[in-house]
Amino acid sequence: MSTTTDGTASGLAVRAAAVIPGGVNSGQRQVPGLEQLVVAATSGASFTDASGHVFTDYHAAFGPPLLGHNDADVDAAVAAAGRSVDLMGVGVTAVEVELAEKLVQHVPSLEKVLLTSTGSEATFHALRVSRAATGRRHIIKFQGCYHGWHDSVAMNVISPADKVGHKDPLSQGMLPEVVDATIVCRFNDADQVEQALRDHDVAAIIIEPIPHNIGAVLPQPGFLERLRELATAYGTVLVFDEVITGFRHGLGGYQAVAGVTPDLTTLGKAMANGWPVSALGGRAELMDLFSTTPGRPAFFAGTFNGHPATSAAALATIEKLEREPVHEHVFRLGERARTELQAMYDRIGVPAVVAGFGSVFVSYFLEPPVVSYDDLLRNDVDLFVGYRRELMQDGIFELPLNLKRSHVSYAHTDDDIDRLLEATESAVTRHLATRA
Ligand SMILES: Cc1ncc(COP(=O)(O)O)c(C=O)c1O
Repeated sequence: MSTTTDGTASGLAVRAAAVIPGGVNSGQRQVPGLEQLVVAATSGASFTDASGHVFTDYHAAFGPPLLGHNDADVDAAVAAAGRSVDLMGVGVTAVEVELAEKLVQHVPSLEKVLLTSTGSEATFHALRVSRAATGRRHIIKFQGCYHGWHDSVAMNVISPADKVGHKDPLSQGMLPEVVDATIVCRFNDADQVEQALRDHDVAAIIIEPIPHNIGAVLPQPGFLERLRELATAYGTVLVFDEVITGFRHGLGGYQAVAGVTPDLTTLGKAMANGWPVSALGGRAELMDLFSTTPGRPAFFAGTFNGHPATSAAALATIEKLEREPVHEHVFRLGERARTELQAMYDRIGVPAVVAGFGSVFVSYFLEPPVVSYDDLLRNDVDLFVGYRRELMQDGIFELPLNLKRSHVSYAHTDDDIDRLLEATESAVTRHLATRA
């Protein structure tokens, strides 16, 4: 039992560690060097820690607040929903219908859509329905992609060199037969996928069209198209996991940018600007296999699915994305960050590849090319993490963890990017000086 009511930053961290295993509520939140971090407030492009330090936030909670933290329109919609109807657990509400209509309107692959709370639930159900539809066992995923915590996919994300090319489960306690049923392929290597499709009974290929869980490795021209052709030829379900790319890279997701239409799509994160709602949608023929239609074979349930408040958050987010030049703004600032950071590294003679798309940017410290996860094994991890720790001294927050991407929101300004460029040059230089 906790014996203190100390509300200071260090007091809260101690109290957290006493009653919350590891002191945080997600394994991704315990970052070396940040064990004492207690967040007191968020607003727009920044957050404030419990000691009163303000940081410009490029971590952005791994991506949701595309409009910026505490967006007034989204938060007002949530409050209004809370005053009108809360969770009923039977039937449907108007806001769920309006949200589903919006999703189907914008995302090319969506003929029908179901709501979940988290991205992991969405990818779980994508794979379940793929197996139900095909009667097949195997799944193909790619080294470097993350699709959530469940046994079929929780493997081979940021793997050490000696695990690349082998199974690299993220956890103990996963069923070996489930791990065995997942085949891990190299991103941008369609020949390897074709071989796997020939050798195994593959129900689904699941992919982040841009693997943002390792920063930003872009699909090479023709790669996603070839996956589409292969999936069709082999009768395998193609799943685009757009939990990060959906809404952040455009109202139609990255599939609209790439012009490649998967069979199923998962969405989450930026869809509701930070409120917990995700979605799985796709071809009606597949979506109609879920048990939301009585007698259909793929069981689907969730107490909080389609919660009116989070559905209202998603609807308000999407309406703002339709109404205001959000993508224009974040794409312009993202492009500034990428090109000007690259020019700065070139000028000061630090080998770097600044990658990204739209609002996302990441500085890898390596020589090109960056085509697949294996290339990222050359990243200078000490510099990658070290300059980000230095940046915190200047009130700028990029997550100090290897390969993690950074995000620009609608609340960031040109002044923020000016400050980012100046502070990054100084942070990289200071960190390199510690190695001299
Ligand atoms: C691409 C992708 N898919 C799925 C997930 C899982 O989503 P959640 O954490 O909401 O379960 C994540 C989470 O980071 C993700 O990045």
